[in-house]
Amino acid sequence: MASVLFVCLGNICRSPTAHGIFQAQVEAAGLAEHIAVDSCGTGAWHVGEPPDARATAAARARGFDLTPLRARQFAAADFERFDHILAMDRSNLSHLEALRPADYAGTVALFLDFHPAPPVREVPDPYYGGEGGFEDVLDLVEAASRGLLEALRAP
Ligand code: 4NP
Repeated sequence: MASVLFVCLGNICRSPTAHGIFQAQVEAAGLAEHIAVDSCGTGAWHVGEPPDARATAAARARGFDLTPLRARQFAAADFERFDHILAMDRSNLSHLEALRPADYAGTVALFLDFHPAPPVREVPDPYYGGEGGFEDVLDLVEAASRGLLEALRAP
């Protein structure tokens, strides 16, 4: 059993997009009983809210449903629950590294480390930009999710 937690700042744009897309890929691969997926934000501003309407619309246009998701904040107990904690950008990663227990045996990394040909290292925050930012997020997340699934399936 593998467990994956996607982390961004608000948990309403990037990490729910990764959550929904990776979950769909896991289910399509018949691995839903073997790979647990969740997402959260380092910040608390949007706790309890559904994903941003722009993220939901962009994902729906590609066949992914984000509407069941609700934002929550990262908690120290997540280090006990997840063995892959994947940050959308370096700021999120620094936040996680600062909280990481010395004996945590899992992976804390940038999500785009799993992209097969990463054009950038970070998933850009689309919150204050235009609709195009959400398309960029989807392109990066779809490719990195495929890479992550391959990595988890590798013997
Ligand atoms: P996310 O985007 O981290 O991809 O969910 C953001 C959402 C909200 C805020 C910042 C980024 N905010 O400052 O409220």
